[in-house]
Amino acid sequence: MTIYRCRVLDTPDDPFAGGELRSHEDAGIAVEAGVIVDRGEFRTVVERHPGVDIVDLREGVLLPGLVDTHVHYPQIRAIGGLGMALLDWLDQCALPEECKLADPEYARTVAREFLTGLTAAGTTTALVFGSHFADAVDALFDEADRVGVRVTAGLVTSDRNLPEPLLSSPARSYDEGRKLAERWHGHRRLRYAVTPRFSYSTSPEMLESGAALAADVPGLWFTSHINENPAEIAAVIDQFPGSADYLDTYHRHGLIHERSVLAHNAHPTDAELALMAGAGASVAHCPTSNSALASGSFPLRRHLDHGVTVALGTDVGAGSGFSLFKEGLQAYFMQQLLQGDGVPLTAAHLLHLATRAGATALGLDDVGDLSVGRQFDAVLVRPTPGHPLDVGLRHAESADNALAKIFSLATPADIARVWVGGDTVVA
Ligand code: GUN
Ligand code: ZN
Repeated sequence: MTIYRCRVLDTPDDPFAGGELRSHEDAGIAVEAGVIVDRGEFRTVVERHPGVDIVDLREGVLLPGLVDTHVHYPQIRAIGGLGMALLDWLDQCALPEECKLADPEYARTVAREFLTGLTAAGTTTALVFGSHFADAVDALFDEADRVGVRVTAGLVTSDRNLPEPLLSSPARSYDEGRKLAERWHGHRRLRYAVTPRFSYSTSPEMLESGAALAADVPGLWFTSHINENPAEIAAVIDQFPGSADYLDTYHRHGLIHERSVLAHNAHPTDAELALMAGAGASVAHCPTSNSALASGSFPLRRHLDHGVTVALGTDVGAGSGFSLFKEGLQAYFMQQLLQGDGVPLTAAHLLHLATRAGATALGLDDVGDLSVGRQFDAVLVRPTPGHPLDVGLRHAESADNALAKIFSLATPADIARVWVGGDTVVA
């Protein structure tokens, strides 16, 4: 057992449902075999477990590990392509880079770069858009397993409207996906997600092959894009004349359920929101991506009103990096700009969106906050002495204010240590 002595902030009680930020100035968190077995005032916890090793983390602030519910592994080198909207950005920026992952050596290097970027930002759990190439997805799982981070990912499937090297067939996608799912789904911290790129690049037969894989391998996840950009939505409706709306292109194949996470949803209809809520599907809100591609303002209020679970995604490489602090801050900015139509977000909301809500979206009950019984997935924010975040944290007037300073100022350079299930993954 180890007792971590720390200043800790987390959000076990949903601030969107009236919960408040939980703050302990001098906490003891006792961890055994990766699980939090006790938590309370440091002195009390030490008294309950005399003689246990103590790790003093009071030079920083401890937060739950961050959860990224939408991030593209093959796009780390595509970050920073500014000045385009979605379909041009895909053609000019993302897809040429993704073609390069046909080379397994290249893919392995990118997988390493990706996992370094992810964990250095304090992300301990991620739903990752894989690659169109099975060997590249295998490399991602292999590296994630080596690093120890919690990753749900899958083979990205498409059979139309993309560059030829990225296209496959429904039968081949099923076979390759099945091999990957059998190898990796449920292996340690890894899970498999059926991952059609988006309806624009998939035929009904391709979506059906994903549904068949999900039927044949129990418990798989489903992820894709939805309602990101008006031109994209129009193109999808054009391709699926029989579908009621974008969501229906997935739903009619049985792909919308409580293990479904849909990225963006910047332009949903009320009917789509109602169906998502009823099915228990979640939405990954990707604020820097939506801003960079001018995709639209996320209607958070309407999602909350319908009872749809919303979490955060970085959407690297349309998003501008791996930091969920940046995504939280950008979510805040965007809601502010919506004025009366926006949701006024507090720092506690941002932490919840970046941790507990992500865990809920991904069905992971044992992560998302630092309560007794949860895995010890944690991030130590420890700014460089004298830098603005350090000054801010020393002069914060409250726990909420300290957390607001973290969301405003923290970058991956301020992440000093990261644990997953009690194992150190960044030191
Ligand atoms: N829609 C289909 N593919 C992509 C992608 O790679 N990024 C984003 N943001 N949207 C997409
Ligand atoms: Zn995306």
